[in-house]
Amino acid sequence: MTLRQFRHHLGAPSSDLIVAASADGVLGYALLFHRRGSQVARVYSIAVATAARGQGVGDRLLQRLETIARTYGLSEVRLEVRKDNAGALALYERRGYRRFGERLGYYEDGADAWRLSKSLLPRRRRRERLARP
Ligand SMILES: CC(C)(COP(=O)(O)OP(=O)(O)OC[C@H]1O[C@@H](n2cnc3c(N)ncnc32)[C@H](O)[C@@H]1OP(=O)(O)O)[C@@H](O)C(=O)NCCC(=O)NCCS
Repeated sequence: MTLRQFRHHLGAPSSDLIVAASADGVLGYALLFHRRGSQVARVYSIAVATAARGQGVGDRLLQRLETIARTYGLSEVRLEVRKDNAGALALYERRGYRRFGERLGYYEDGADAWRLSKSLLPRRRRRERLARP
């Protein structure tokens, strides 16, 4: 994201920008969107500094976004990920995200994206919802 986009999201009521930091500085960030009236939150962006990768920072950022979405009472988190981004895909699938669609040519360079989703509802409520006609 550009500096301008960061500034915008810092002040926007529909965005939550969280940062992981250590004494050495910023390790990573993640950004969540939630629209009024919608039950779905969206992970818009997540990144970890190259030197800090592979140590669980991305996993914790994602976990924190899900906690934030739950505090808003939202029932689902969705996101898009490049089909060729094996690392990010592994992170999401490990945290329970499932592919439910694709967006062809979604990125500026024409690359395709998977659409991923994770329910935040407890298993029992999920079963009840599925059972409804
Ligand atoms: C994707 C990204 C956020 C992962 O952050 P990270 O802090 O390195 O991830 P974690 O250390 O928390 O990894 C958690 C799990 O994700 C998976 N994973 C993460 N990076 C991976 C990689 N490069 N290859 C394979 N699996 C990976 C693993 O299952 C890992 O668990 P494990 O280490 O116990 O096997 C980071 O690589 C990044 O910033 N990439 C560039 C930006 C980007 O692609 N963002 C996603 C846009 S959709």
